[in-house]
Amino acid sequence: MIVPSLLSADFSRLEQSLRAVERAGVDMVSVDVMDGHFVPNITFGPIIVSAVRKLTHLLVEAHLMITDPISYIPEFAKAGADYISFHVEADGDPGEAVRLVKKSGAKAGVVVKPKTGLDKVESILDQVDLLVIMTVEPGFGGQGFMEEMLPKIEQARTLREEKSLRYLIMVDGGIHKDTVPLAVSKGADLLVAGSAVFGGDDIEGAVRRLQDAAGLGD
Ligand code: DX5
Repeated sequence: MIVPSLLSADFSRLEQSLRAVERAGVDMVSVDVMDGHFVPNITFGPIIVSAVRKLTHLLVEAHLMITDPISYIPEFAKAGADYISFHVEADGDPGEAVRLVKKSGAKAGVVVKPKTGLDKVESILDQVDLLVIMTVEPGFGGQGFMEEMLPKIEQARTLREEKSLRYLIMVDGGIHKDTVPLAVSKGADLLVAGSAVFGGDDIEGAVRRLQDAAGLGD
């Protein structure tokens, strides 16, 4: 499934952008939250999730690239995030973060940076709904897909099968028509795409081209 990342959207035309991805038939959008500390960039907070919530019925995933996710999870849930994904490299106990996401009424995702091995999340994989594998260094859209992450995607699929777990595998970063088949072939269920979707004028067409590349085209 293609998950447009609003990081690259034109926020002066947010409603039109959301209508375009809705027309393309996506089910979820991703909101990249950055605090300027965990990553060297600042984007937006719960207020944007609330705005997106008012504009669309699509599922909203809040990707928290912040140092202290535990302090902010309830606010993002209240703002209307359906999925809240936090980084295992952030402060706080990952198990506590998962419990807090669920207590707040959202589904839980855990994210690993490129240099972080899946061994760091293994203890909570039976509790999360989403495992997000970054295929770029978090912080900016428009970066190149790190093909050296492909074995990690495959490892995530193998782990899920071996342990009979149920998390979805989300791949985030550098997704475009040539990298979609690579990620899907290794087990990606969800593909986050920002610049490939919002980089040009034809947003709906861009999503459809990515769906076709993933073999999802209708
Ligand atoms: C990085 C962001 C990006 C974004 C997708 O911190 O998480 O990966 O979602 O951006 P593109 O598709 O432009 O790489």
